[in-house]
Amino acid sequence: MSIYGPYEQYLPLILDDLTQRIQLANQTMKSDTGFKLYEHFHARIKEENSMVEKLSRKGYAISTNSALKKVKDSIGIRMVCGFVDDIYKTVSLLRDMEGVTIVKEKDYVQNAKPNGYRSYHLILEIETPYPDCEGNEQGYYFVEMQLRTIAMDSWASLEHQMKYKHDIKNPEVITRELKRCADELASCDLTMQTIRHLIENDRNP
Ligand code: GTP
Ligand code: MG
Repeated sequence: MSIYGPYEQYLPLILDDLTQRIQLANQTMKSDTGFKLYEHFHARIKEENSMVEKLSRKGYAISTNSALKKVKDSIGIRMVCGFVDDIYKTVSLLRDMEGVTIVKEKDYVQNAKPNGYRSYHLILEIETPYPDCEGNEQGYYFVEMQLRTIAMDSWASLEHQMKYKHDIKNPEVITRELKRCADELASCDLTMQTIRHLIENDRNP
């Protein structure tokens, strides 16, 4: 039996349902404004071995209950947007979504981590038609969402690769240069946003 127990079968269904709702919102946004809400969309169920590794790293019991209720990223979505505004549009859209409650959010876009990491993180609690491990017939499941721009995403993937390289000669220089690069990218994101505003405001009625 999987770490997700008998609930394993529901995870992809919940992920697909939320994905479809977000895709629909994207289409609506595109036909209303001519701009899409996001450029790339990645959805995943956390694999058994990484879930077990995370449970033991965090000191939680290796159980279905911990995998679904203590750790809140068994279901994960990363949305990569063209512009900073789209991140906030998406957050407000999620806030209004039926059966979806934002239980945790961290705005690392406004408040970058000291290393330069930027993204908007949300934990959503989704009401579903499926049972959950607490005995609810219409159960609740958590979904982690990471919203970022293309620039933030490319920085995060480079930084992630560097983290696992322990034989780097000048780690201080690398850390400093990565931070500088993150800040330059953030400045470009703002300029890109301003350019888009100019284009939007220039349109003929
Ligand atoms: P957990 O998700 O439980 O580990 O914890 P948390 O709530 O302390 O996490 P946080 O919201 O800071 O980050 C969760 C996820 O964001 C990570 O699994 C990464 O995917 C991503 N992340 C956070 N900080 C960084 C960072 O400095 N660099 C990169 N590349 N990714 C990060
Ligand atoms: Mg996580």
